[in-house]
Amino acid sequence: MKRAVLNESVVSKRMLNLGLQRVLVSCRGLRRSVGVRRILDVARLELERGRTYLLCGPNGAGKTSLLRVLAGLDAARCDTLQFDGADIDLRNYPRQMRTQLGFVHHHPVMFSTSVFGNITFGLRAAGLSREEVRRRAAAAIAWAGIQSLANRPPQALSAGEKQRVALARVHALDPILYLLDEPTANLDGSGRIMVTRLIEAIADEGRTLLIACHDRELLGLDGVVRLHMCEGRMDAAP
Ligand SMILES: Nc1ncnc2c1ncn2[C@@H]1O[C@H](COP(=O)(O)OP(=O)(O)O)[C@@H](O)[C@H]1O
Ligand SMILES: [Mg+2]
Repeated sequence: MKRAVLNESVVSKRMLNLGLQRVLVSCRGLRRSVGVRRILDVARLELERGRTYLLCGPNGAGKTSLLRVLAGLDAARCDTLQFDGADIDLRNYPRQMRTQLGFVHHHPVMFSTSVFGNITFGLRAAGLSREEVRRRAAAAIAWAGIQSLANRPPQALSAGEKQRVALARVHALDPILYLLDEPTANLDGSGRIMVTRLIEAIADEGRTLLIACHDRELLGLDGVVRLHMCEGRMDAAP
């Protein structure tokens, strides 16, 4: 708890110094239907900068659907949505929002090249110089402690190693919002510990995280806010 308080004061000071918005995501009336079925009906969602939110709820509650909509992967309607102070139209998902958030799937999709190639892919797509791509990829690999995996093909990785590679791939792009879909589900003891440590490191960097999970272990993270979904709705405002 001590660390959470410290983080909060450090983050608030940084925000004040940089003139940043306290609220990173503010959303009202978010709805998504598939056919005639309404699978998301979220009256209100507000994410403060620098906080970690756990999106809990039973299977089929709409956790993955909500993350996918926020990541711009699935269509939805929204009465109002602000991201980092700017009004966002979900029907015309802006590139500026896409580049500022990182989504990690429950089963991350990997290109059939090396781990290093997977990490450099997004950096190259972002148009960075060759030198910057190499520098950022090396830093992300060291950050995630996956140096020994760098030349391996992704098919040869365990589920926990894949999650760490996926987190490194997103961390290399330095987003301000991380959307993680059940990052530690189905991982064994050591894989779970290593992935949880990386998530803690991201939180310590002052980033905002929205993490779908059933997992009791992540509930042990310092200073998290728990959100609960059921049947496409968010139970109560944080
Ligand atoms: N593309 C889709 N087509 C039809 N139904 C979907 C689709 N995506 C999600 N659903 C339904 O929406 C509900 C919420 O699913 P999901 O977001 O995956 O829940 P959770 O991640 O909380 O388990 C489920 O009933 C699921 O079957
Ligand atoms: Mg899910």
